Amino acid sequence: MLDLVEGKVHDETRQGEAFAPFVGDINHYTKKFYIESYGCQMNFSDSEIVASILQKEGFGATRNYEEADLILLNTCSIREKAELTVRKRLTEFRKIKEANPGMVVAVLGCMAERLKSKFLEEEKLVDIVVGPDAYRTLPVLIEEAEAGQKAVNVLLSREETYADISPVRLDSNGVTAFISIMRGCNNMCSFCVVPFTRGRERSRDPHSIINEAKQLFERGFKEVTLLGQNVDSYYWVDDSLTETGGQQGAVTFGKLLEMVALISPTLRVRFSTSHPKDITDEVLFTMSKYENICNYIHLPLQSGSTRVLQLMNRTYTREWYSVKVNRIREIIPDCGISSDIIAGFCTETEEDHTDTLNMMRSSAYDMSYMFFYSERPGTLAARRYKDDVAEDVKKKRLKEIVDLQGRLSYESNKKDMGKTFKVLIEGNSKKSEADWMGRSSQNKVIVFPKENYNFEKGDYAFVKVNDFTQATLIGEVVK
Ligand code: 5AD
Ligand code: SF4
Repeated sequence: MLDLVEGKVHDETRQGEAFAPFVGDINHYTKKFYIESYGCQMNFSDSEIVASILQKEGFGATRNYEEADLILLNTCSIREKAELTVRKRLTEFRKIKEANPGMVVAVLGCMAERLKSKFLEEEKLVDIVVGPDAYRTLPVLIEEAEAGQKAVNVLLSREETYADISPVRLDSNGVTAFISIMRGCNNMCSFCVVPFTRGRERSRDPHSIINEAKQLFERGFKEVTLLGQNVDSYYWVDDSLTETGGQQGAVTFGKLLEMVALISPTLRVRFSTSHPKDITDEVLFTMSKYENICNYIHLPLQSGSTRVLQLMNRTYTREWYSVKVNRIREIIPDCGISSDIIAGFCTETEEDHTDTLNMMRSSAYDMSYMFFYSERPGTLAARRYKDDVAEDVKKKRLKEIVDLQGRLSYESNKKDMGKTFKVLIEGNSKKSEADWMGRSSQNKVIVFPKENYNFEKGDYAFVKVNDFTQATLIGEVVK
């Protein structure tokens, strides 16, 4: 449990998840594909784009890789462990490929982008290597691979946003969905491989975003999460408007949020991830103005030490971060805040670590995603600094961080006792079909008995909290 990855950034329960067959799809497919996804929500979202591209090529999805003509692994490079998981998975596919040499194996995503054609040399069973900006070329690459050639496309793009591709939603609860609003990242956090694997930042046409959200709503979805590595730097200039109206045609993230919120008051809007340096008052005021924009911000701290933050190239100090948290609480008093924390970054001392623990306390996070530092080849940190914190020290510090977050989450949930929340029902609770599971605006999971109320998945219920654990609120419906 030391590499804690859960929730909507890295949902550990979803790592390696495969798509279900196209539910209710009446098309007949001549070939079958099997796809597994690793890493962040962006990768899961990309797999839905890939599924859409493959569907048009006559490929139907299967959950059983043994019957697949094409196996795809959408991979993650963020930590070494993520890459090792994929390597291990590939060895499991080796036997099947031996039994069925015609089967094509494709590696997608960040690891494909990082390793490029080296992947083909290192893993002989791989036929196709394709990076996150090259999925449109998959049909051609598959043809090449079927003809017995190895195929690679890892070109990054300054424009590709897959705006016109309608993602195929599989394995969905039918209530909540993710919409990618931008790709890539221009921040150069020194620990992070993403700028190298996903390229330059680019925003997607807001009209295509609104259309996708509207279509989801018409199909019964009740919540959309706008996704990007750094959503607050979303920026779109509509050229047709700019010619006549100067910058009036510009769409900022705050404006985009408002446009999505206006689709319907019963469609909830969330977003992830925010960089503390970029989240603006405009966004905070828009959140407070619209009830259906959820009061929840994922605001990664990474480290509580100003010295370490500087080495991480995060461009803020601990004081600056605290001012941001205070501002959020001032404008949105009941806002849920979560964080990402890295233990044991290069040169981190006990004092730096204590700074991190203190910042976690003062920010009073409801939840955090916590990791120990894993050096990634090619990153600024790998080139500039020595990975000099011993593994056992990293793990000890991570444990202290995890334990503290456990206490903070417990305290946060305790404060909710007796309060009533508007809950969007996502489905049955994991433990019992007699209970519903949903989320509050603050993104907390709430479980409550169905009793004799006629609620359905996708409905809103008002639920009063009467019990809690560290991870879950427990309540009952109030009339
Ligand atoms: N080592 C450990 N954690 C990392 N993250 C990103 N790069 C690394 C790394 N090299 C964490 C950061 C980021 C989250 C998605 O993953 O906390 O916010
Ligand atoms: Fe997502 Fe980063 Fe992993 Fe790529 S490396 S899949 S962007 S978390």
